[in-house]
Amino acid sequence: MGMDIVGSGDRMVALVELEEGSEKKIEDVAKEVIAENKNVVSVLQKFPGTKGSYRTKTYKFVAGDSNTEVLHKEYGYLLRLDPQKVYFSPRESTVRQHVSSRVRPGDRVLVMFAGVGPYPVCMAKSQPLLSEIVAVEFNPEAFRYMKDNIRINKIAHLVTPLMGDVRIVCANMSGQFDKIVMPMVEAFDFIDVAADCCKSGGLIQVYMVSDKERLYEDCRAAVKEKMNALGREYDVEAESKVGLYSPGKWKVLIEIRMK
Ligand SMILES: C[S@@+](CC[C@H](N)C(=O)[O-])C[C@H]1O[C@@H](n2cnc3c(N)ncnc32)[C@H](O)[C@@H]1O
Repeated sequence: MGMDIVGSGDRMVALVELEEGSEKKIEDVAKEVIAENKNVVSVLQKFPGTKGSYRTKTYKFVAGDSNTEVLHKEYGYLLRLDPQKVYFSPRESTVRQHVSSRVRPGDRVLVMFAGVGPYPVCMAKSQPLLSEIVAVEFNPEAFRYMKDNIRINKIAHLVTPLMGDVRIVCANMSGQFDKIVMPMVEAFDFIDVAADCCKSGGLIQVYMVSDKERLYEDCRAAVKEKMNALGREYDVEAESKVGLYSPGKWKVLIEIRMK
């Protein structure tokens, strides 16, 4: 059984995943979880993968309060969200710290696929001397939460949320950004947009999926092919694992320095 908990204080929601073929009844598991964690108010059963273009995870409500909106706390900042309506992974808090540690004073940052805003919030909190973060999201529900999270964390002077499709919203942003963050495994389809928006010398941080057998090699080959086609020079500056994506595959972070 795998379990994540989102929320804070006395309002937490448990996201429980049963192993394939498990004989356990989710209702019994939920009762145990609530009995053992006094701050858990609801239990959702989580199923593998994400669905649709908003990349939400599939959950089944199992027990407790049917209102599953929470105020999640990580590394001293707060994120309001409902896991049933938007994508959010508490497991990626360490990657958010790493990505944020790369931001320098004065940087202009573009966060594509921003969701409820965990990356913009984490970056603005860890580097308050940055110049601006532009955060783009097209799920209206996630966008509403992102605006709320910008307000709650008092970073409205640093973050500009833009609602819409990255390919359209970022069409006229050539050469404007020092850092571009692409936190979605399908993000590589938009690498041409990122390469265009990035200043020379700027850094693109993109999530990809890599085969365990050819770890990073497959990503390097894809980056090379795409950058050659775009006629752009670059260096792959860093590669790291984000988490297990599926049996045999890692979700990874590839950091590309544009020349
Ligand atoms: C996997 S989620 C990641 C959200 C956030 N970065 C996080 O880590 O919590 C991807 C997000 O990108 C949004 N999205 C997908 N395609 C998009 C596009 N073409 N333009 C803007 N947003 C998009 C989805 O609605 C979803 O909220």
